[in-house]
Amino acid sequence: MSEDAWSVETHLVHDGRPAPEPGAPLNEPIQLSSTYYAGGDTEYARDGTRSMWALEAALGPLEGGGAVTFSSGMAAANAILDLLPAQASVVAARFTYTGVAVRLQELDAVGRLRLRTVDIADTAEVIAACAGADAVWIESPTNPMLEIADIRAIADAAHAAGALVVCDNTFATPLGQRPIDLGADIVLHSATKAIGGHSDCLLGVAITADDGRIEALRLRRTLLGATPGSLECYLVLRGLRTLGLRHARSQASAQEIATKLVGHPQVERVRYPGLADDPGHDRAQAQMTGPGSMISIEVRGGADAAQAVAERTRLWVHATSLGGVESLLERRRRWARENPLVPESLLRLSVGIEDPADLWADLDRALRG
Ligand SMILES: Cc1ncc(COP(=O)(O)O)c(C=O)c1O
Repeated sequence: MSEDAWSVETHLVHDGRPAPEPGAPLNEPIQLSSTYYAGGDTEYARDGTRSMWALEAALGPLEGGGAVTFSSGMAAANAILDLLPAQASVVAARFTYTGVAVRLQELDAVGRLRLRTVDIADTAEVIAACAGADAVWIESPTNPMLEIADIRAIADAAHAAGALVVCDNTFATPLGQRPIDLGADIVLHSATKAIGGHSDCLLGVAITADDGRIEALRLRRTLLGATPGSLECYLVLRGLRTLGLRHARSQASAQEIATKLVGHPQVERVRYPGLADDPGHDRAQAQMTGPGSMISIEVRGGADAAQAVAERTRLWVHATSLGGVESLLERRRRWARENPLVPESLLRLSVGIEDPADLWADLDRALRG
């Protein structure tokens, strides 16, 4: 069987390894050196290291492009924004991840960009906003509202207007959705999350099928100094080996838990694209391989009641971030910079790989007080 016929799960285990020569290590070793003897393939670590290239070799094909890794998801986002011309007009989802949303607002405030926010699930509104846009920043599912954008329809309209299409695919993971296949020009991941999967390091990646953009992003990385460390690259590549198993397990558990949350006496609303009556359900079914492992719920009783639930769980970790092997939850509005349109009582749940029966028992107990 040729390598081209291997499934993505098989590639996850085998890509990004050193050449299989006698005596060669199976895993790319971590090299602790900022500089290298001149004349070889590596010169200065800020420009690139073997650990970085090994990880990029495994990440790029997952999304159908070439990968450029960064020191965090935000570093990748900033490098992409740095590609845009002065005063570029940027259309972005109202519920874009807080860090990116705040950065877009800052760049708008100093005149670097002109920002227009839209309801990313309202395709007609987004398409209308594409006229005159230089870039459209899609996130789907959105963090933390779990809205689903029609990526192909938006990408087509954006391209007709001459705009660059960026898609933050962090929530879906490359196994859940491939935005480049749906028309996106650049895909962004916080690999800190499900790709790394163990909540032990920060790393970001931008993936594009355009060679010119790959070069431009590499140069941004070098000039911004947003290079990931070799240890981080090693850890993310090691985490990637089990992404297939972790993704399948967390997603199945999320579907089970979301279904049980519907109708729970302490839960006012469940947002999860895997539920048949979720507003994003049909679109998610059409463009994703599954609804993912993130759930948002609105707890009956407002902010204090929701905060108390987050503080009462014993198994679910009360912490920010997502996509790790451990299940984790938090009330998003506890952050001062979170979008004020996010309900005060919203808890964002990241479902990990524990036994779903244990997760449900802990969550149900915490909800009941
Ligand atoms: C959807 C999304 N994009 C980007 C980021 C930023 O990634 P990082 O924390 O690795 O900088 C995050 C972080 O939470 C995120 O959730």
